[in-house]
Amino acid sequence: MSTHDKIKELREKRKQAHLGGGQARIEAQHKKGKLTARERLDLLLDPGSFKELDVFVTHRTSDFGMEDKKFPGDGVVTGHGKVDGRLVYVFSQDFTVFGGSLGEMFAKKVVKIMDLAMRNGAPCIGLNDSGGARIQEGVLSLGGYAEIFFRNVLSSGVIPQISAIMGPCAGGAVYSPAMTDFILMVKESSHMFITGPEVIKAVTGEEVTFEDLGGAMSHNQKSGVAHFAAENEEHCIEMIKTLISYLPSNNLDDPPRLDTGDDPNRTDEELGKIVPTESDQPYDMRDIILRVVDNGEFMEVHEHWARNIVVGFARLDGYSIGVVGNQPKVLAGTLDINSSTKAGRFVRFCDAFNIPLLTFVDVPGFLPGSAQEYGGIIRSGSKLLYAYCEATVPKMTVITRKAYGGAYDVMCSKHIRADINFAWPSAELAVMGPDGAVNIIFKKEIQAADDPKKKAEELVSDYREKFANPYIAAQMGYIDDIIEPQDTRPRLVDALHTLLNKRETRPAKKHGNIPL
Ligand code: HXC
Repeated sequence: MSTHDKIKELREKRKQAHLGGGQARIEAQHKKGKLTARERLDLLLDPGSFKELDVFVTHRTSDFGMEDKKFPGDGVVTGHGKVDGRLVYVFSQDFTVFGGSLGEMFAKKVVKIMDLAMRNGAPCIGLNDSGGARIQEGVLSLGGYAEIFFRNVLSSGVIPQISAIMGPCAGGAVYSPAMTDFILMVKESSHMFITGPEVIKAVTGEEVTFEDLGGAMSHNQKSGVAHFAAENEEHCIEMIKTLISYLPSNNLDDPPRLDTGDDPNRTDEELGKIVPTESDQPYDMRDIILRVVDNGEFMEVHEHWARNIVVGFARLDGYSIGVVGNQPKVLAGTLDINSSTKAGRFVRFCDAFNIPLLTFVDVPGFLPGSAQEYGGIIRSGSKLLYAYCEATVPKMTVITRKAYGGAYDVMCSKHIRADINFAWPSAELAVMGPDGAVNIIFKKEIQAADDPKKKAEELVSDYREKFANPYIAAQMGYIDDIIEPQDTRPRLVDALHTLLNKRETRPAKKHGNIPL
């Protein structure tokens, strides 16, 4: 065979591989409203940047007639490419080949990508669309999954790991995405569950649809397993790119600084009008966040779950920051089990990847009640406390209104080593709100008064004047300054600049023991 013919043969084989499970299956995939594994990569990666590896890998199973069914690539497209000019490693499961199911060689391809991503300090992005363990390969596929799980853990905190769920993701297969940093799900076409509706019906009698059980909104709203819900696949890919733009390539790198064009000295009079005068009135903490950060751009994480706390990525003077804010308009901004878990995980991610934290505080305390206690609010609330204590990235805090009780300590207070703590004049720092406090410490006086209601009102007013303000904390140095709301952005930008070279360490240890 001449060189020319050999090259022709190579091209033919490559073309064959690009067809995955064949034209009919590609059409079936399209009919379901889904893109193919390669089409997804085309959208994700900068044009021409994708370099595929292991395109000729096939399985080596002979059971169940598999010998005659071989598809080059074996159901997963792997390689590296660039997102906005930055190196990423990718694997994209190909549902047209054995339903994207994972066997021995498929797993080896994914493992190779994960190892390269780790070795070269670049994010690893997985596009999932798979029937799970390849049944014909038995324990080899289970072993393959475990090799992946192990690497998910090795990679955790070293390189960002992102999972998009774009089709089925069932059984033990869900644990790989679950151990990555972020899960994105596509509405209506993606499903995650440990056991499907049929098994559930057989075992427990419960009847539930695919969508209710493991659809995008179930995991975005109810379980909190997923962090983002995309309208469609294109939207999902766009979200991955935006997310990557806020992240460093690895834990030894800083996130890229972008020229956002927003004036770092921009003041904003409107900020002073957001917090209502009545301290029990709600407002949307996102209105404050959007006015402070660059160009009002905020990528909210877990937007639909535990909405009493808001977390997400933004920029200040072009630097990536992680923002955490109590949300007074949901459950009055109290901390409960889910919101503590949500924010705790986010804080740990930012700390692992050198992303400074900005915390906005308006918290009346932990959500009271037996449901919370039985559910372990003590354990879960301490996750957030633990995460903030552990974090050594720059930590900036702005108290907009309430900072009551234990929640004051938790929400990145000075005592757990926040670097800069500001308060607005509307801030109230106290052990508890005026009504509750007065009813406890002046119970006898109120009962003995001729007009208990009036007496209570007077005492509440006195308490409010004495304690429900930021001045006592400022006298103690717990607050570095009381700032005017309009100046929040310039003051934070200035603070962030002072913290860019921050170096702080914690005692060496194998690892801590966060209350799980
Ligand atoms: C081998 C599989 C497969 C699997 C699907 N296929 N799942 N082949 N192993 N796990 C094949 C089908 O035989 C079919 O091949 C093709 O993929 C498309 O599947 P369809 O069923 O026609 O597609 P659809 O109707 O869209 O349904 C998709 C599906 C369903 C919901 C994923 O196929 C399904 O329920 N599959 C089994 C899911 C499952 O139980 N997996 C094991 C989970 S446990 P042909 O040749 O006919 O086109 C697990 C353990 C992991 O994964 C443990 C890790 C520790």
